[in-house]
Amino acid sequence: MDNLTPAQIVKQLDKYIIGQDQAKRSVAIALRNRWRRRQVPPDLRDEIAPKNIIMIGPTGVGKTEIARRLSLFTDSPFYKVEASKFTEVGYVGRDVESMVRDLLELTINRLKANEQEAVKEKALQIAEERMLDLLLPKPKPANPLQAGPEPGIATTETESESQAATREKLRGMLRKGKLDERYVDMDIAERSTPVVEIFSNVGMEEMGINFKDMLGGLLPKSTKRRKVKVPQALEIMAKEEAQNLVDMEGVVKRAIEKVEQSGIIFLDEIDKIAGKEGGHGPDVSREGVQRDLLPIVEGSSVTTKYGPVKTDHILFVASGAFHTIKPSDLIPELQGRFPIRVELASLGQAEFARILTEPENALLLQYIALIRTEGVQVAFEQEAVEEIARIAEDVNNLTENIGARRLHTLMEKLLEEILFDAPDLKGTKIVIDGKYVLDRLKDIKEDEDLSRYIL
Ligand SMILES: Nc1ncnc2c1ncn2[C@@H]1O[C@H](COP(=O)(O)OP(=O)(O)OP(=O)(O)O)[C@@H](O)[C@H]1O
Ligand SMILES: [Mg+2]
Repeated sequence: MDNLTPAQIVKQLDKYIIGQDQAKRSVAIALRNRWRRRQVPPDLRDEIAPKNIIMIGPTGVGKTEIARRLSLFTDSPFYKVEASKFTEVGYVGRDVESMVRDLLELTINRLKANEQEAVKEKALQIAEERMLDLLLPKPKPANPLQAGPEPGIATTETESESQAATREKLRGMLRKGKLDERYVDMDIAERSTPVVEIFSNVGMEEMGINFKDMLGGLLPKSTKRRKVKVPQALEIMAKEEAQNLVDMEGVVKRAIEKVEQSGIIFLDEIDKIAGKEGGHGPDVSREGVQRDLLPIVEGSSVTTKYGPVKTDHILFVASGAFHTIKPSDLIPELQGRFPIRVELASLGQAEFARILTEPENALLLQYIALIRTEGVQVAFEQEAVEEIARIAEDVNNLTENIGARRLHTLMEKLLEEILFDAPDLKGTKIVIDGKYVLDRLKDIKEDEDLSRYIL
């Protein structure tokens, strides 16, 4: 999925997000540029920095959704974080460097999971052998000192032969599931003790040190002997073996490379850290956070417990409503590091109608599926869809414009009765037409005060 063309990327996004073509194009180009950069000869390659993007648009028009979808179908390490979550270095809270650490952590886990999946077969085989050892312990030579060629060659031969035969028989039973009800004793590693849990990750994180890992190595690994059913024991063993089979050093190395070369960090709510300093109490560190962001966006080395990670080629996509605040309220240095600005349009009736029905995860499909679990069939007539979309636009104009999120509140209200009564309606079919929608929602819509509270 690494080499999708811009048109292919947009096509993927189109499956879930209606409109917002300019934003889709920009992220598609930025993504393709990563791939292009990797084809450029090395000396020039290092000179090519990513062009970071700011997505600007009112609330609920698909900014986060674009990023989320992008993360699902690209193979790039991807991390989304709210900029408002950070505090300036030195204050209590999360410092901005933690996002790079989190991105790496995430990537390592993903690669590790992939690798474990790849060695699954092998791990299962080893686990099976271990299980057979457990079910049928190998007999120790009665007297190792005497276990020479002397008296009993013949007997040990046949003994080990019959031993092997039993083992194979047992294997057959195991595979057929005939031992599924049996219990075996096995040592199970306990998770690290709760005491350690309390300390961990509170402040040490900044240094890239993880208490749990540090102590984990020192503390005796606590295991507990438990009785476990055979299938479950097999599963545990296979997991352990898969872990042993994966070369973690290699995984870490590749993860760091992947993050450095194709990582994407999505900085949501960037406008929340912009704005003039006005002594609004706890806000004083906003500009500090922006300053902390600079070196990371510009390219620097972040210390992690796995080693340094260079951020030079990580792509940053920032997003914000920029309602009262403008991108020009960000500190100038930061503005300069986000050269691409895309605006997302606010949504109206036409888009709402499409959002309700077209995406692969369309809202109406979700409700239909939910209600179907009760054995009730709901269908929406086109006229109903239009009506919901129209009301959504009206209410957005009349009260607060919350974009496509309005559809969620409307749908809940519209279907409230059906959602409540569904268990009693088993086997029925309900068709929702324009009239049904109007009956349910018109009064509320027309009373501004009511809509403020209910929709
Ligand atoms: N253009 C769109 N097409 C399809 N669904 C959309 C679109 N815009 C918004 N949605 C839906 O509306 C909801 C909110 O969208 P999203 O989270 O992307 O908003 P946002 O632009 O990030 O807003 P905010 O500024 O509040 O974070 C999501 O459930 C999303 O699926
Ligand atoms: Mg958002």
